[in-house]
Amino acid sequence: MKMELFSPEALITEDEIAHRIEELGYSITKDFEGQELVVICVLKGAFIFCSDLIKKINLPIKLEFISLSSYGDSTQSSGSVRLDMDITANIEGKNVLIVEDIVDTGLTIKTLMDIMKVRKPKNVKLASLLYKPSKMKHSVKIDYLGFEIEDKFVIGYGLDYAGRYRELPYIGILNAGN
Ligand code: IMP
Repeated sequence: MKMELFSPEALITEDEIAHRIEELGYSITKDFEGQELVVICVLKGAFIFCSDLIKKINLPIKLEFISLSSYGDSTQSSGSVRLDMDITANIEGKNVLIVEDIVDTGLTIKTLMDIMKVRKPKNVKLASLLYKPSKMKHSVKIDYLGFEIEDKFVIGYGLDYAGRYRELPYIGILNAGN
């Protein structure tokens, strides 16, 4: 059986992503020079971004995973966030860097920041690969941003639609025909 190749329109190419991640890694390394960093990867969407980013950070890192869901299988935010899986480390007094795939309404990341701050870290910074300013409802500060994008539903490089397309090596736009 012949498999059809799936190639949605690219918004951000593999090369552009790699170049930007190198810059972000350099800034993070400089900002936390001489210190240890707890990196919290927000599953599932940030797993590829986070694995590429930590390779560009030249600091001692402890990696943690957390899983939150707000979307279900739709392209619209459901308006509520559920904590599906928590980190295992104690972050009290630690430098924490949360690594997220995309900030859309800001609800997910605001909820996560609030959960983390109660645990008394030394500080909490946010790295997000993408940001859709047109949808922002809960203001959050993105300390390390990959790309600002317009209000389109994007897939690939870890981001999904209904659990699919995470394996695309670039950021593509979800069209009705995909
Ligand atoms: P927020 O809580 O509205 O900021 O939504 C953030 C979460 O929604 C992200 O972590 C993604 O999982 C998901 N999301 C928002 N926009 C997109 C998109 O364009 N493509 C894929 N997932 C998205």
